[in-house]
Amino acid sequence: MLAGRRLILGICGGIAAYKAAELVRLLRKKGAEVQVVLTTGAEAFVTPLLFEALSRKRCFTQRDFLSPQGGLIPHTDLAAWAEGIVVAPATASFLSKLARGEPSDLLTAIVMATRAPVLLAPAMNTNMWEHPATRENLARLREFGYRVVEPASGELACGAQGPGRLPPLETLLLEIEGLFVEKSLAGKMVLITGGPTREPLDAVRFLSNPSSGRMAVALARAALLLGAEVHLVHGPLSVSPPEGVKTHPVKTAAEMLQVAQGLFEKADLALFAAAVCDFTPEKPLQGKVKKEDFPRTLSLKPTPDIAALFNARKRPGQISLGFALEEAENLLPRAREKLEKKGFDFLAANALSAFEAEETEIFLFSRTRETPRRFHGSKEKVALEMLQEVARAL
Ligand SMILES: Cc1cc2nc3c(=O)[nH]c(=O)nc-3n(C[C@H](O)[C@H](O)[C@H](O)COP(=O)(O)O)c2cc1C
Repeated sequence: MLAGRRLILGICGGIAAYKAAELVRLLRKKGAEVQVVLTTGAEAFVTPLLFEALSRKRCFTQRDFLSPQGGLIPHTDLAAWAEGIVVAPATASFLSKLARGEPSDLLTAIVMATRAPVLLAPAMNTNMWEHPATRENLARLREFGYRVVEPASGELACGAQGPGRLPPLETLLLEIEGLFVEKSLAGKMVLITGGPTREPLDAVRFLSNPSSGRMAVALARAALLLGAEVHLVHGPLSVSPPEGVKTHPVKTAAEMLQVAQGLFEKADLALFAAAVCDFTPEKPLQGKVKKEDFPRTLSLKPTPDIAALFNARKRPGQISLGFALEEAENLLPRAREKLEKKGFDFLAANALSAFEAEETEIFLFSRTRETPRRFHGSKEKVALEMLQEVARAL
């Protein structure tokens, strides 16, 4: 997707500027031509020499803006040259200037002068990220049509804990590729179920499973990148869904069925990635039952099989994809059996080891193809590649 693409990488003055060096290397490895532009702030952290060596191109800085050489008009020439622009890291100060439409520096001027798609990757201290001015600027920038990749959470260089880290480079690469992917799900509605369900035993105890919901969130992101309207009906998640996804939080399997029902009617594509609890207590106990009074034997009943119920009501043209998590040795035969039995159009089979993990290996079965296709890598990468395949069936 990136081979031969002309990209500008704008780097601002934040600590994560050092990570941009690796990003240039990875983009070049994927075949992109990368033109780096450093802000004045960035030059306090990293040098043009580093980026010239990595990109094999002249690195533009603020000095080039108002005293250009060789007949260049750097901001308009670069703006016209670029097929895509990425600003990573984007500082609070850069976001503010762009939101106000104030092209007083080279990078802001390039971004304002281009017609190419622009991706902003903010990184900053958590309080700066949560500041109402930053929130407002980002809302504005999204309104202007800029894409924003949310920062990751974790420990920041300043010692703070929370959102503000530059996302992992693989996530960034995927978002950059998203600038160029065909919007094969534009105008389509995608329903995704994700995360575990919780079946209450009493007011404070429940039956559940360790699903993180990462696959569903990765599918939601991929469907957004492909241009779909995305609805995610989910149990408790360990990762946040990206902005732009319409989320419908639920707790139990019965609630998931109820909420997903109305959405399924309108969906073009339904992706059943939830780890729905298979059983629920026959009679949940009221209030918080004392430890000594808690029954030692539980009477359980099966929860509704949401995917099978919906598959039975599919209208022509509607496509469904299910997931099968199996022991490695039974994976492939069981997957084919589940595809048929439950009436899916596609079935993504993965081994038990994928549960909770960040990386995955998936075999995608379909009704129309004899042999499954294998996808491997981060859940984000696999989700995008898999959805591109599924979109062809729509
Ligand atoms: C050590 C240090 C680290 C900084 N890290 C960040 C950061 O991660 N994100 C940010 O928005 N600003 C950060 N700043 C503040 C910016 O450098 C400052 O706002 C600067 O004016 C940004 O310039 P630019 O946006 O033109 O690159 C940091 C400043 C210092 C001194």
